[in-house]
Amino acid sequence: MSRTTIIDCDPGTDDAIALWLALASPELDVRLVTVAGGNVGLAATTANARAVVGLTGRAIPVVAGAERSLMAPFRFETAVHGQDGLGGVLLPEGPPLAPGIAADAIRDLLRGASPASVTLIGLGPVTNLALAFATEPALVDRVAEIVLMSGAWSEGNITPAAEFNAWNDPEALSILLGLGCPLTMATLDLTAQAFVTPEVVAAMEGRPGGACWRAALAILRALPPSRRMSFRGYPLHDPCAVAWLLAPRLFKGREAQAEVDCGPGPGRGRTVIDRWQRLGRPPNLKLLERLDAPGFFELLAERIAALP
Ligand code: BDR
Ligand code: CA
Repeated sequence: MSRTTIIDCDPGTDDAIALWLALASPELDVRLVTVAGGNVGLAATTANARAVVGLTGRAIPVVAGAERSLMAPFRFETAVHGQDGLGGVLLPEGPPLAPGIAADAIRDLLRGASPASVTLIGLGPVTNLALAFATEPALVDRVAEIVLMSGAWSEGNITPAAEFNAWNDPEALSILLGLGCPLTMATLDLTAQAFVTPEVVAAMEGRPGGACWRAALAILRALPPSRRMSFRGYPLHDPCAVAWLLAPRLFKGREAQAEVDCGPGPGRGRTVIDRWQRLGRPPNLKLLERLDAPGFFELLAERIAALP
């Protein structure tokens, strides 16, 4: 059975690869792609989302949303994603944006859906998703599962405390953590295991594929190695959230309770994740902890290489 799916993203190099993985996969029936600013500004993230979807030849509406977070302007991550958000990899221009605003489009789709039937994937700051539920909370009963790439139980990647997506809109993440529907989180601690080294890229290069696969390889080659990982490679974050829905056998995890620091200090954006029930609070998410990395990269390559 194919899950009715909305993807909210801020492409973003790894968002692009996550979108291709999702659009290549029969397990997901992607009906809507909504876009926020984040890795770069909204004008670039929407152009990138249109181009990434357009390259697959699929007619999926791409709708623009938040150009700032709930409380402040977005801060960008051009050091990783480049000024254009795709690491300088040029794609043909995609079809125009669909009309409307992301939060409205999300609510419209949910309103027309049956209970517990829609899966939401959040790959950026979750402003659009939070706005949709803050303005019509009853729609949470339409949600089958929300899967986010967000947060960390250990060190952050944008501040010592915070992961980039959580830090870019902690208030929005806090709204999602309080919804009470099934929620799964791929944190930095999980995505560190989707570790791309030059050897991993070299092994993929031999595989033939279409334009999407060639563009994905160009992006994988363009991404800079991470200082956090001693410059040996970099983590491929966002596709982990999609892979969870395609092949849960590749993951191990546990129920956990999480909240996000929305204060103004150095802890802002930090996800405080109780993995061991130390606070005695009811779990509010499934935390993905372990990844079968070879299985993950094989899935990614096999699926994206089959796209046009
Ligand atoms: C997250 O931040 C962004 O830079 C990536 O696209 C990913 O969603 C990782 O912290
Ligand atoms: Ca992202």
